[in-house]
Formats: sequence, structure tokens, C-alpha cells
Amino acid sequence: MRHLALLSLLVTASAFAADAPKANADREKAWKADIFPMLEKSCAGCHGKDPAKKAKGGYNIMTLESAAKGGKENGVGITWGNAAKSSLYTLSELGATKRDEEMAMPPKKAKSEPLTKDQLAKLKAFIEAK
Ligand code: HEC
Repeated sequence: MRHLALLSLLVTASAFAADAPKANADREKAWKADIFPMLEKSCAGCHGKDPAKKAKGGYNIMTLESAAKGGKENGVGITWGNAAKSSLYTLSELGATKRDEEMAMPPKKAKSEPLTKDQLAKLKAFIEAK
């Protein structure tokens, strides 16, 4: 009987342990399939695409890890569960809605297009997915 209790404990513990890496793998998959391709078009030219050029604002979006980390002055790139505290989202939203703001991304004079409403919604859902 004691063995059985121990066994169920182990099974429960490993089920929990498997949870976190799976969530990360899901995020990585969604990033590659849906999120990065749209950011690549609008943002990557200034944020890491050319390894010979310094990413503007110290912000590199070429990997999920660096995109989540953020840049020099505007805080965390992605706060999981909270788009309002994610500079990746807030500055993209400014770029799409308030083109004259200094931190609107992409900047007004940039050649690349801001994210569309649908793309912003996708980005928000990605950041806030449970
Ligand atoms: C034409 C170049 C250009 C494009 C395109 C561009 N950015 Fe930027 N980005 C900049 C510059 C320059 C800064 C630094 C501005 C400053 O600190 O005053 C910056 C800063 C940032 C920062 C703040 C980094 C920090 O913490 O200081 C974020 C986040 C950011 N950009 C996201 C984006 C996103 C997302 C896109 C696409 C939707 C984008 N940018 C497109 C030039 C660009």
C-alpha cells in the first residue's frame, strides 16, 4: 500500500514538471508560425535582422528570448499574461494608433508598415494566452 501511495505521488509530480516546458514549447511554436513573421516585416529591419547593424534601442526581435527580454529603456519586451506591461505590444499599439508619438513603432518616418488591428489582436492573444 505504501508503494502505491509513493507511486501516485511520483506520477503527480512528473505531471506537474511536464507542464512548464510544454507551455514554453507551445509559445515557441506560435512565435515561429504566427508572430515572428509579422514582426519580421514591420520591425526586424531595425531590430536585429542584420547582425552587422546594432539593434535600435538595444532591442532584438530575432528570437523569442530576446524579444521577451526587451531593450535598453522601455522595460520588459513581454510580460507573460499582461500585454499592457509588454513594450513589444504597447509600442506596436502606439505605432498603429498614434503615429506621431515619439516611441510609436515602427517610427513615423520608417518605411515599414505598422501592425494592423488584426495583427495587434494576435500579438495580444499570444502574450496573454494561458
Ligand atoms: C526604422 C527603424 C525602426 C523600425 C522599423 C522599428 N523600430 Fe523600434 N525602435 C527604433 C528606434 C530608433 C528605437 C529607439 C528609440 C528611442 O529610444 O528613442 C526603437 C525602440 C524600440 C523599443 C524600445 C526598446 C527599449 O527598451 O528601449 C521597442 C520595444 C521597439 N522599438 C519595438 C519595435 C516594434 C515592435 C517594431 C515593429 C512593429 C519596431 N520597433 C519597428 C527603430 C525602429
